Amino acid sequence: MSVVALVPAAGRGVRLGAGVPKALVPVKGESLLSRAVRGLLDSGRVRHVVVAAPADQVDLVRAELAATESAHVVAGGAERTDSVRRALDEALRVVPDASVVLVHDAARAFTPASVVRDVVDAVEAGAPAVIPVLPVTDTVKEVDETGAVVTTVDRTRLRAVQTPQGFAVDVLQRAYAESGDIATDDAGLVERLGVPVRTVPGHPDALKITTAFDLAVAESVLAPAGE
Ligand code: CTP
Ligand code: MG
Repeated sequence: MSVVALVPAAGRGVRLGAGVPKALVPVKGESLLSRAVRGLLDSGRVRHVVVAAPADQVDLVRAELAATESAHVVAGGAERTDSVRRALDEALRVVPDASVVLVHDAARAFTPASVVRDVVDAVEAGAPAVIPVLPVTDTVKEVDETGAVVTTVDRTRLRAVQTPQGFAVDVLQRAYAESGDIATDDAGLVERLGVPVRTVPGHPDALKITTAFDLAVAESVLAPAGE
């Protein structure tokens, strides 16, 4: 089966505040985007990668990935959903025989290859939609608009969701065709179709680099010495 990965990388990285789009921020000399793409291809399961780059940085991103023959770059959109939609259109054009599609945030640049493989395996085994998840470790409370606690949520059934999220191509295509909405993750759109979404174990290293603290963790813990 042929697997194509979409990499939304068109965000501005406002919360990181690095002054450049987050995907282009280097960790020990290699950008988050380059690391994310390398991780997908190193899994040995992904044949093509389609990156959604910031619209004003498409040439720069193309140059950065020029050595990676199987990487394609398109301009992303205003919201993550727009970026994924554009990457999906390009993926269907360049890899028309793809049967599995992954969607993987450039910001999750340190995701272990084993997570990529587990997601692909589960889709190839017949699951239409698969997401990597971790148990929630903090106690979670619901509050009202004043900040007063309404209730303590039972966290045993809560999961924090990571990427790559994997889908049978026709399922993700249908989810994007039938929804004009903004969603924070792609499985959310698939759930609205009534399609079951399966979970596989995620990994702490697949954390999303969002803030300067996360970047410091990546630099000191996740990027092996010398990298
Ligand atoms: N993303 C995208 N297109 C957008 C917005 C986000 O492709 N219009 C991508 C980001 O590049 C990132 C992933 O979606 O890889 C997750 O988004 P997030 O972590 O929120 O990144 P940013 O939007 O860049 O960060 P911020 O919200 O702090 O600006
Ligand atoms: Mg964002």
